[in-house]
Amino acid sequence: MQCNEDGELEDASSLTHFIFRSLKAKLVIPSLNICIVSNSIYCCKDKYTPINFKMQTPTNITIKGILGILMSCLDEMNKNRVISLGMGDPTAYSCFTTTDLVQDSVVQTLESHKFNGYSPTIGLPQTRKAISEYLSKDLPYKLTPDDVYITAGCTQAIEVAISILAKPNANILVPKPGFPIYELCAAFRNVEIRHFNLIPEKGWEVDLDEVNALVDQNTVAIVIINPGNPCGNVYTYQHLKKIAETAKKHKILVIADEVYGHLAFGENPFVPMGVFGSMVPILTLGSLSKRWIVPGWRLGWFVTTDPNGIFKMLRTLSA
Ligand SMILES: Cc1ncc(COP(=O)(O)O)c(C=O)c1O
Repeated sequence: MQCNEDGELEDASSLTHFIFRSLKAKLVIPSLNICIVSNSIYCCKDKYTPINFKMQTPTNITIKGILGILMSCLDEMNKNRVISLGMGDPTAYSCFTTTDLVQDSVVQTLESHKFNGYSPTIGLPQTRKAISEYLSKDLPYKLTPDDVYITAGCTQAIEVAISILAKPNANILVPKPGFPIYELCAAFRNVEIRHFNLIPEKGWEVDLDEVNALVDQNTVAIVIINPGNPCGNVYTYQHLKKIAETAKKHKILVIADEVYGHLAFGENPFVPMGVFGSMVPILTLGSLSKRWIVPGWRLGWFVTTDPNGIFKMLRTLSA
């Protein structure tokens, strides 16, 4: 098996075998017999018969672009179905539409001509109030509008969370599997990402032993995605409590990504991490995107779920 200086395959008698040995493979999907080496995508007809089919990809192609190319390589005759776990847009399925009430409210608001001007950067007071009341329904204490900051979707809430925590040598713990925007935002802010595993046999619970081993004096936060993407986990009250206790022990805060909040269909009801806000300060991130089926509206929130006011202490800001 040989590859040239650019990492491209020259003689492939067993591509899969080559893939596993090649350190240059950036992405390997053995079930599809596809790999990316350097800037080229290789496909195999089956495990042992490479087509030796190669596509040059531009260096600026997005992950979604690569996924599109990979999906177009699928053998339609293969009975093994491939499900994209990256599909997060509910509007892709026509059965999912938002309610008339939500839509009518937006139409009325537009027609009122009252909201065409600039709004405060942190969001309109009435929007912040509505979100604080909505989130407070599930909490043992009341949030105020001052706890809520409006963002462009949950994506911007993630960016804000990471940028305010960025300081020299800081690291953040994120779940694996997880949502890649965390890595992306951290890379822009020079924040180190440390991955802890989710345990499939335990409903994708956080491996807290691993968390304990990863934390050091530069760890500033742990990210919890609940309900989880891509694993679909919905954590129990007890598990969330253990996470809160672990965060408290290490004096780190919790970033609770609850963009899928309330979308829980199994045995476990959705419990917001903010329930443990008295134990450890929580940054709750969310948006209208999933529950209200309107990801294109780009309305999200960044909320300090912190009844003890730890975030407001000068010590915290200057730490
Ligand atoms: C876990 C998670 N966080 C955040 C987001 C981003 O949400 P939004 O579309 O509101 O920016 C997504 C989107 O799929 C997600 O899955």
